[in-house]
Amino acid sequence: LEAGCLSIIVLGASGDLAKKKTFPALFNLYRQGFLQSSEVHIFGYARTKISDDDLRNRIIGYLIQGTASEHSEDVSKFLQLINYVSGSYDTEEGFRLLDKEISAYEQLKNSVEGSSRRLFYLALPPSVYPSVCKMIKDYCMNKSDLGGWTRIVVEKPFGKDLDSAEKLSTQIGELFDEPQIYRIDHYLGKELVQNLLVLRFANRFFLPLWNRDNIDSVQIVFREDFGTEGRGGYFDEYGIIRDIIQNHLLQVLCLVAMEKPISLQPERIRDEKVKVLQSVIPIKREEVVLGQYEGYTDDPTVPDNSNTPTFATVILRIHNERWEGVPFILKAGKALNSRKAEIRVQFKEVPGDIFKCQKQGRNEIVIRLQPLEAIYMKLTVKQPGLEMSTVQSELDLSYRQRYQGVTIPEAYERLILDTIRGDQQHFVRRDELKAAWEIFTPLLHGIDKGEFKPTTYKPGSRGPVEADELLERAGYVQTHGYIWIPPTL
Ligand code: BG6
Repeated sequence: LEAGCLSIIVLGASGDLAKKKTFPALFNLYRQGFLQSSEVHIFGYARTKISDDDLRNRIIGYLIQGTASEHSEDVSKFLQLINYVSGSYDTEEGFRLLDKEISAYEQLKNSVEGSSRRLFYLALPPSVYPSVCKMIKDYCMNKSDLGGWTRIVVEKPFGKDLDSAEKLSTQIGELFDEPQIYRIDHYLGKELVQNLLVLRFANRFFLPLWNRDNIDSVQIVFREDFGTEGRGGYFDEYGIIRDIIQNHLLQVLCLVAMEKPISLQPERIRDEKVKVLQSVIPIKREEVVLGQYEGYTDDPTVPDNSNTPTFATVILRIHNERWEGVPFILKAGKALNSRKAEIRVQFKEVPGDIFKCQKQGRNEIVIRLQPLEAIYMKLTVKQPGLEMSTVQSELDLSYRQRYQGVTIPEAYERLILDTIRGDQQHFVRRDELKAAWEIFTPLLHGIDKGEFKPTTYKPGSRGPVEADELLERAGYVQTHGYIWIPPTL
């Protein structure tokens, strides 16, 4: 990390995202020595008029959760790094005050080294991004002659469709340059998502097989076993496609499908991701299934006649030499029968297969993002014993077993560290965002206009049966009589 004073300003400090994700991630970085109290100060900023201690009391519970009791001293030391400033998001007083406070700390800490680094984390609804960015630009930029930087971190929803997203990007882009803007998609911070690049391009096993000649379908699946729980108001405005598919699953798709970047430089990797998005052809309505779980509209913040999908299966098709004809099935749902996220790459049949009549299923590589991170390859082996029969088994790299004692960092922890280090590889570039919206906007507009209605499904089920039928039509073959059992320790 560069030297010099680092101020981290969390705007929207008393909101949900800040309490549940941002502050705990900062705390974990602090605890592991990535944020040194000699050079870091944290500012919380929000409208509510509360004291420093009020803010500390609001977040302490989230820091202690999941933290061993021996770290309680760290918790109190960390909380002392935080100060609170209150102000509105669109008037200058609050931001002038914020700047004064930051500058005072910079002077205090910079007795030796004079550069200043200012990281603004916007844990806020995007409706206030333009005004907040303007205020930061006008009043709170790094002023040190001795170097440093000002960066802003923003989080989805980046707009609701192509036009609104482009408008937002333009508004922010007029104030900050792209290298200063960090658009978080927290799926890019997950261990197994980050592993995709290594897995695909550092292994001879996969290189020759990763194409339309060998792969029959790719599924990227997100399932949650709970509903919108308290977030109905937000969710109803966006729906599962904007909440999960257009961002998280699409980012994963890019990493599964992209060509090898010419180097590991963040821009070269992002170049390849954009190309994938730009090669996706328009979604066909018959390759979409939408669902809404029964009881969704019981939430008082959700209108009774809501048309918002809480489940969707969408097939994307990539028009290029590698992937022509291979369905990329993106599936996401709330209130289903399990919670997991995984990538499932299914291979074609063995040509001229002499074992065909005995087989349980096809070869698959499954990359399980969560929970119980694992990469396993499903393959057919001889059933051990005297008979010459076959059985489906797996080569299993289960992280809990293979990397015992290794703590897998939280996505936010890793991504915030990247923002401090200035590494944009795991952040969404403006052209990527635009291309992602281009893919989904026509479908989303159709849903918004009510042209396309979700079918209801029972909470705790697999989702609408039509989704399984679509999967079958896309050529996906279920493995019969086999389930992967995560190894026990
Ligand atoms: C968020 C969505 O981006 O991701 C939520 O807004 C969802 O609806 C969450 O629950 C899932 O994240 P994770 O890391 O638990 O898979």
